[in-house]
Amino acid sequence: MSSPTKTSSPTTVITNIASLVTNDPSLGWGSPRSSKFESGGSSPLGLIQDAAVVIDGDRVAWTGESSKAPATDNRVDAGGRAVIPGFVDSHSHLVFAGDRTQEFNARMSGRAYSAGGIRTTVAATRAASDEELERNLTRYLREALRQGTTTMETKSGYGLTVEDETRALRIAAHHTDEVTYLGAHIVSPDYTDDPAAYVALVTGDMLNACAPYARWIDVFCEKGAFDGDQARAILTAGKAKGLHPRVHANQLSYGPGVQLAVELDAASADHCTHLTDADIDALANSATVATLLPGAEFSTRAEWPNARRLLDAGATVALSTDCNPGSSFTSSVPFCIALAVRDMRMTPDEALWSATAGGAAALRRTDIGHLTPGAYADLAFLDAPSHVHLAYRPGVPLVSEVWRRGVREV
Ligand code: NIG
Ligand code: FE
Repeated sequence: MSSPTKTSSPTTVITNIASLVTNDPSLGWGSPRSSKFESGGSSPLGLIQDAAVVIDGDRVAWTGESSKAPATDNRVDAGGRAVIPGFVDSHSHLVFAGDRTQEFNARMSGRAYSAGGIRTTVAATRAASDEELERNLTRYLREALRQGTTTMETKSGYGLTVEDETRALRIAAHHTDEVTYLGAHIVSPDYTDDPAAYVALVTGDMLNACAPYARWIDVFCEKGAFDGDQARAILTAGKAKGLHPRVHANQLSYGPGVQLAVELDAASADHCTHLTDADIDALANSATVATLLPGAEFSTRAEWPNARRLLDAGATVALSTDCNPGSSFTSSVPFCIALAVRDMRMTPDEALWSATAGGAAALRRTDIGHLTPGAYADLAFLDAPSHVHLAYRPGVPLVSEVWRRGVREV
């Protein structure tokens, strides 16, 4: 391969990588399509053994065998560790205050999870100062970064007034480009007797105030939250304002969420715990990614989404944390990978692909989630010879170094 083009930014080569995950389709399969995952022993990950990566400024400039790496300004020895693309966590709820330890405790003694618990966090979030909300957000973003997450989407949804939703998004937009307006998390407790008036607020004044800070609009389409017609009205209003839809769909029960997501070309239908064959077909024949959030099933003791059915049908699957204080208080993508492999029957390769390239697809991004020339140099080093150890050694802090945009941050 030819040397990277010389520009004014310094070039760095990382050598002595035992196993490099590129997600490069030309080196293996970058496509998520199941037939490719299934054919014996091959990998979607574009793996290179004894590899090197060249970084030019904030981008990947070259990948290949260590012995063939071109000359650069700087040299870093990976010492036989594995290197993977930074995780792309496409679903979290990090602008909140308070915690819900008691609710979790009660659940672990047998109580069921319901959407109503969100109200507890709404009250705590409304009472918090901007500084407290920002401190919380940055704490969890940093916690995730230490575990290898270099891109994190996050949502509003614990304010549910024009002012509180706007400030949540304003604070979030200081720290990530992937910001989602979720005024339709539940009907605000101030509108319990008049849900239609709340939908009018979410699609009217609240949307107008929030749209400048967000890229996405989301709805919790579920019993106890918003039905299909309400969700359609909310997402359609958001689209008209330039926000792109994503949907909390089919989490606690069967319902219209997934079909609505596909109908509106949502980037992602998230949770997908209760799917009919028609839901799976719809996802498989669309550009809508099925984002699975096993931290939520773990923390609510719910049944696992059927990842195999989705993959075997040819749907694109992403894996994310859903980090939030109610249903999934983990910022750890490695933990979710271990759950996906052990309990959702994804292979270690499928799980890693879904947590990197799959997350990027769920955010409709082509510049992250893979390590090929031109992509952002977002990567994580593992204290392990390969990415398989993420599931093989669950709970062990294997991420030992994290680079974002070509700069070491952990
Ligand atoms: O994705 N399902 C809706 N929202 C969150 C839970 C929020 C909460 O319980 O506070 C979720 O699981
Ligand atoms: Fe969620």
